[in-house]
Amino acid sequence: MSDLNELETSLLASVQDAADDAALEAVRVSALGKKGTISGRMKDLGKMGPEDRKSAGQALNALKDKVASAIQARQQDLREAELENRLATEFVDVTLPAAPEAAGSVHPVSQVWEEVVQIFGDLGFAVAEGPHIETDWYNFGALNIPDEHPARQEHDTFYLNPGEDGSRMVLRTHTSPVQIRSMEAMEPPIRIIAPGRTFRSDWDKTHTPMFHQIEGLVIDEHTHMGHLKWCLEEFCKAFFEVETVEMRFRASHFPFTEPSMEVDIRYHEEDGKLTFGIGENWMEILGSGMVHPNVIRAGGLDPDKYQGFAFGMGLDRIATLKYGIPDLRGYFDGDLRWLKHYGFRALQVPTLAGGLS
Ligand code: DAH
Repeated sequence: MSDLNELETSLLASVQDAADDAALEAVRVSALGKKGTISGRMKDLGKMGPEDRKSAGQALNALKDKVASAIQARQQDLREAELENRLATEFVDVTLPAAPEAAGSVHPVSQVWEEVVQIFGDLGFAVAEGPHIETDWYNFGALNIPDEHPARQEHDTFYLNPGEDGSRMVLRTHTSPVQIRSMEAMEPPIRIIAPGRTFRSDWDKTHTPMFHQIEGLVIDEHTHMGHLKWCLEEFCKAFFEVETVEMRFRASHFPFTEPSMEVDIRYHEEDGKLTFGIGENWMEILGSGMVHPNVIRAGGLDPDKYQGFAFGMGLDRIATLKYGIPDLRGYFDGDLRWLKHYGFRALQVPTLAGGLS
């Protein structure tokens, strides 16, 4: 009997010492499992006489029950200790201020890009794209800019090294090549805008070597200048979020349009802050015109059958105007303080219905 007592003491001690569920399970298996100590003793009962067997059997069963309930109790203790521990470490201080806003912000160019896409999308324009690295043909030739044309110099083009045939690819100097690519890829009626990156070797307060433009193109059989003026007016009202915008179409020259116009809108300046639509001053915002027959032909369409208009404007520039950002160079420095100041809240997607900005 005394050795059963010893066994009991040692088993109960191991139960008590088990520091977690796994250790406790190991104790249970070593005591009560098929090959455990108590089960081993049970097997030995067969070798005893009837009297001894009875009393030893009772004692073993009692020990078995005791160990089983000790294990259960220990399990309960461990659970409670774990809960206590979690309560102590995971407490919530309800007096803390609200979590700070997400640190990321939407860059003004992305914001304006999205706004412009929304506005023209509403007018029925699809978004088209073209490559940043263009052939001379798409960037110049197809747009009615021949080899000796001064526009080639004005564009401050970045040229790539010549290929095997001597021809040089260029970083596109404007989004206008997408006009040609769209005419090649689509059947009229064509109504597209092409926002994207453009490149010119220029660097000052209002020029960066990489900048963004948005191109517009409408081609069908009957589109005329009245449509162009209406589209641009609708755009300006929506973009600057005003009821009326007074516009001025100034005769200009671009090789790819005939006639060509630059578009100015009225603005008012007070304490360095600009408001658009009405006012005493004019601000130039874009170039436009009726697509030149040579350009329509270069796009693979018949200029006797098709006509239309095109326009191009600087995305960074209209972002500057709308959101009052003075120096273009800051746009692409990646300075977090600048982004924090001029950036827009993430997840606030501009829509015409919900408000653009
Ligand atoms: N491609 C011209 C530029 O980069 C902008 C432009 C002017 C585009 C008139 C047009 C247009 O489509 O009709 O300066």
